[in-house]
Amino acid sequence: MISLKSKNEISLMAESAKRLKAVFRELKKNVRAGVTTGEIDEKAEELIRNQKTKSAFKGYRGYPACACISPNDVVVHGIPSKNCRLDVGDIVSVDMGLIYEGYYSDAARTWSLGNVTSEAQNLIQVARKAFYVGMAEMQIGNRIGDMSHAIQSYVESCGFSVVRDFVGHGIGRALHEDPQVPNFGTPGRGPKLEVGMVLAIEPMVVAGKHEVDILKDSWTVVTRDRKLAAHYEDTVAFTEKGPVNLTGPQEYSDFEAPED
Ligand code: MF3
Ligand code: CO
Repeated sequence: MISLKSKNEISLMAESAKRLKAVFRELKKNVRAGVTTGEIDEKAEELIRNQKTKSAFKGYRGYPACACISPNDVVVHGIPSKNCRLDVGDIVSVDMGLIYEGYYSDAARTWSLGNVTSEAQNLIQVARKAFYVGMAEMQIGNRIGDMSHAIQSYVESCGFSVVRDFVGHGIGRALHEDPQVPNFGTPGRGPKLEVGMVLAIEPMVVAGKHEVDILKDSWTVVTRDRKLAAHYEDTVAFTEKGPVNLTGPQEYSDFEAPED
């Protein structure tokens, strides 16, 4: 069942998202060569606390950390570790979610550390652009499949692949709600988009083949061919004025006074 959110609920989600953006902005300064992913997660925990919010991830199905930190061939759900030290030439995805007044927000970014290969840089850009290609399909009359197809077509036209085993999702009073938002699919299929839907759109783009494996820790998702992966995610509300990217770069004030 897809839950549609009221304007008031979307305002609360926008506040959750605003705080998540603040956490990302500060955390980014700590993501550099020489630090461990465990240290980055400690910082994330502190920043989340300072925002008077809770991590949406810690404890979720037993997940042990505040952030998912996924370097290089790790696609998503990398568990932060004191033994995993980032180095120049790495790319790394950081995925975090917050709970504010019972409302969730969810976002991910992939960053490069120092000079990386042009393919790695391109992969990061394609994941980000794929998100916007998907968001542009959030229009009255469209279906989820239109977004899914647009994302897949764009990514494949760049010579990369989209992961099939993990998908985006509705979000609201839970981290994962209906509908699923795949990064692959057929135009005209899936649920119709409606005002009040809030979706976490999250292209997972890989340099090689789409297949992934889950490591023995039962969380870490790696590409089967061990080629690079990039992840971009934002929480987007579908309002009467069209899609609003709650965790995206636009200013919160754009959304502060929704009209009744
Ligand atoms: N951000 C991830 C998603 O969109 C959730 C991470 S799963 C967790 O599905 F266990 F780490 F919370
Ligand atoms: Co998500």
